Amino acid sequence: MENNEEILLRVEHLCQYFKMGAGRELKAVDDVSFNIKKGEVFGLVGESGCGKTTTGRSIIKLYDITSGSVYFKDQRICAGARSYKIAIKEAQKAYRAELGELKKQCAEELKSAGDREGTLEKYRKLREDAAARCGKIVAENRKQKAAAIHDQKYCDRDHAQRVVAALKQEREEALAACKSEEERKACAKEYKTKLHIASRERIVNRIQMIFQDPIASLNPRMTVRDIIAEGLIIHGIKDKDYIDQKVYNILEKVGLVREHAGRYPHEFSGGQRQRIGIARAVIMEPDLIIADEPVSALDVSIQAQVINLLNDLRAELGITVLFIAHDLSVIKYFSDRIGVMYFGKMVELAPADELFDHPLHPYTKSLLSAIPLPDPMYEKQRKRIVYNPLAEHDYSVDQPSMREIVPGHFIYCNDAEFAKYKAELGAE
Ligand SMILES: Nc1ncnc2c1ncn2[C@@H]1O[C@H](COP(=O)(O)OP(=O)(O)O)[C@@H](O)[C@H]1O
Ligand SMILES: [Mg+2]
Repeated sequence: MENNEEILLRVEHLCQYFKMGAGRELKAVDDVSFNIKKGEVFGLVGESGCGKTTTGRSIIKLYDITSGSVYFKDQRICAGARSYKIAIKEAQKAYRAELGELKKQCAEELKSAGDREGTLEKYRKLREDAAARCGKIVAENRKQKAAAIHDQKYCDRDHAQRVVAALKQEREEALAACKSEEERKACAKEYKTKLHIASRERIVNRIQMIFQDPIASLNPRMTVRDIIAEGLIIHGIKDKDYIDQKVYNILEKVGLVREHAGRYPHEFSGGQRQRIGIARAVIMEPDLIIADEPVSALDVSIQAQVINLLNDLRAELGITVLFIAHDLSVIKYFSDRIGVMYFGKMVELAPADELFDHPLHPYTKSLLSAIPLPDPMYEKQRKRIVYNPLAEHDYSVDQPSMREIVPGHFIYCNDAEFAKYKAELGAE
């Protein structure tokens, strides 16, 4: 589907349900799928409470997700088992229903059957077939369930083992190439440190999150240096000079100065605190940054500065970004592709230009109508479109799913809407 472009993150049928007591569940994220290509900015937008933060937190494994999978660099880092449990239960239920049906049919046939033995034999065979079919589905889903539980729990260990094995191989070759005993000693020492760090490597550390609230997310009792260096230290890096140097470099990269390292978070403005949050993420040299409404808590006047900083870092360091926002104005110029969420569901997903030029889902249209433009004429005529799902969709019979209207433009719709949207785009 994505013609050769490298996919960094693949989210497949992600569900995160929260238990609400009395057997009730809140479907904060419900069957959400998307992927993020290496180097792109993927914008995730939707009103407050629609499940954006939960999606981000699920990806970095802050939850044991309910069901679905998340693949990062082709390794599954999150996996939920619920869908397999349901499939097993349903297969068993269908099997029991089929047995009941066969029993009835058999009794019916026996009433008039000449060949009693033959009839009984026939139904025994049918029962065996049904049992075999059910057994196959159950076995397959049990296998998948076990694999999901394994990946959810051991993805870091599996990853570290692979990295360590590759490093050991590399070490053998490096040692063989050494020309003197000293060289060999130095080389062995270097690999000892590398192996120590690799053995503690968590694949999820390749993904870093920047949080919405820079005040709540920074420990007030830690200096800026310690906040920024924390990830490195957990990672097993001990060299104090090395850490200091890295902290100073990163401070400069995010527009602060090394003198800031010894201060505490409360000594900084909101914008500066968010820069500290960005530094803390970037120092880990992540492949993916999840920026969760990083400027929502900031004054409008400094929002642009922080957005520009993120954009510069992304270009300079080649970081891929999942950018979360509650309105489209912030991510408009920043995102390559945009996914629109509504009440736990992804309702539209398209390249940014396409989404702005040809929005299809009524919720997207309503979000777009909320963006003010610096044009008085337009502003005079601008009408807020209100989205009312009950009035817009009839999903009582014709059920919706995510479908591709034109290449790359997906929309959550049923058969009737699909035809309507296609006509709207002139893509018959
Ligand atoms: N830990 C939790 N326990 C129970 N409900 C939660 C939890 N986290 C979020 N929710 C609920 O899940 C829904 C989605 O929340 P969230 O992902 O924070 O939305 P957003 O980031 O889009 O504003 C909300 O209804 C919220 O109240
Ligand atoms: Mg949020």
